Amino acid sequence: MDAISRESATLASLRPRLEAIGQSHVLTFADDLTADQQASLANQIAAIDLDTVPDLVARFVMKTDAATLPEDIQPAPYYALGGGSDDSAWDVRSFRRIGEDLFEAGQVACFTVAGGQGSRLGYDGPKGCYPAGCVTGKSLFQIFAEKIRGAERTFGADVPWYIMTSPLNDAQTRQFFERHAFFGLDESRVMFFEQGTMPSFDKETGKMLLASPGTIATNPDGHGGAIGALMNAGAIDDMKARGIVHISAFQVDNPSVQAIDPVFLGLHHAASDSSAQMSSKMVAKVGPDEKVGVFCQVGGRLGVIEYSDLPHDLANARDAAGELRFNAGSIAIHALSVAFVERVATDPAFALPYHRAVKKVAHVDLASGEVVQPNEPNAVKLERFIFDAIPLADASIVMETDRVEEFAPVKNATGADSIETSQSLQTLKAARWLESVGVTVPKDASGEPDCSIELSGLTAVTADRLDRGELPDSIDRGAAIDL
Ligand code: UTP
Repeated sequence: MDAISRESATLASLRPRLEAIGQSHVLTFADDLTADQQASLANQIAAIDLDTVPDLVARFVMKTDAATLPEDIQPAPYYALGGGSDDSAWDVRSFRRIGEDLFEAGQVACFTVAGGQGSRLGYDGPKGCYPAGCVTGKSLFQIFAEKIRGAERTFGADVPWYIMTSPLNDAQTRQFFERHAFFGLDESRVMFFEQGTMPSFDKETGKMLLASPGTIATNPDGHGGAIGALMNAGAIDDMKARGIVHISAFQVDNPSVQAIDPVFLGLHHAASDSSAQMSSKMVAKVGPDEKVGVFCQVGGRLGVIEYSDLPHDLANARDAAGELRFNAGSIAIHALSVAFVERVATDPAFALPYHRAVKKVAHVDLASGEVVQPNEPNAVKLERFIFDAIPLADASIVMETDRVEEFAPVKNATGADSIETSQSLQTLKAARWLESVGVTVPKDASGEPDCSIELSGLTAVTADRLDRGELPDSIDRGAAIDL
């Protein structure tokens, strides 16, 4: 927050400060605004940390060079799928027990980042309201809510749920939950809070864009905005008051996420090389060109390098067994301790960097006062990424998970990572779980399930807790079944 309090800010008092940082064009139409509009613009400007704007513009908006990567980048070590083998083998069962103890003690909360604009999906509403269930069309929010209810029942303890929205979708998100009676969750354990926003900048000039004559164009400040927002909104204090120690964090667009994962939480909490501050899950990349960030080690510190920043030779490098050396793809699933989030949010030395994204942003033409809808990307949005907190942990671990088990994102309207791919992955996962307890699932000629199966988190939170007695012996060919 800026030094000028919002109450006292007037456009006249802000003008010299805007002039000093080369941004006074945002007042171009000030004299034509009503008193209310002027007050609202003054409030918006006062909420921007104006002193930092020139530095942000110079470092992130006007700078277009590729990121300079350190010389010594090594693949990140990780806890291999299912406990691994040989030297790296680890005891899944004992970590599961530790994680279950954490849930039973009511020390784990869920956290969903749901403040994105979902522009690729093109859905009219918050992405969490999107009908994603492969049989029922349940919304993403309902799918997560059932996992959380299932966990509360299984472990006999509260699992509070924190949901980060943005000023653009907060009201709609809250209304959706109210309309659906919080999907059976206790309302007192669901907390919504808005993430921050950043001004959107003209990519050529570094000037803040106007969305209307009296409003600066803004964008949500990225999922990394979660760290500050959790703190500022009082979510961290709320967690501490409830005795929460760890946060299971995931994105709103992945219905297959194991939001309740005792093994992962146990490993995060107790592995000898974990500081129990921030841990992550990875899936093996499908190929060198897959567009996911990759876990790496730089100078002994774990971190994620974005796919666009990983040099071609490293992305394609293979080990003696012919596997990609840098194969640990990030799927944005993390465990964080409450204490770590508090530390990163409050210590200025830990401020997360910004990343620039060049996007199309509608804006007011300063000469004509008309709103222009650009055909080409014209603006820089500045966003923080949650994975930039990983190197700030004293020690951080990565656990391998299976793509079918945990990664069915709904990002695009069609094609890769669309509702179509997500729904067939949901069935694939459900089929595996059912087969693991002896249910017969019909298969087509290529070995894929010849049916649709949606498995609610209320039926089982983890595969090992499926109750065979409550399941059919077999699924009919072509059936669409909701269990
Ligand atoms: P994406 O990077 O997929 O962005 O977000 P998006 O905004 O949802 O979709 P596009 O790029 O416009 O199509 C990954 C996750 O991070 C959250 C999203 O809600 C999603 O869960 N997120 C993203 C935020 O919470 N805030 C942000 O500012 C950006």
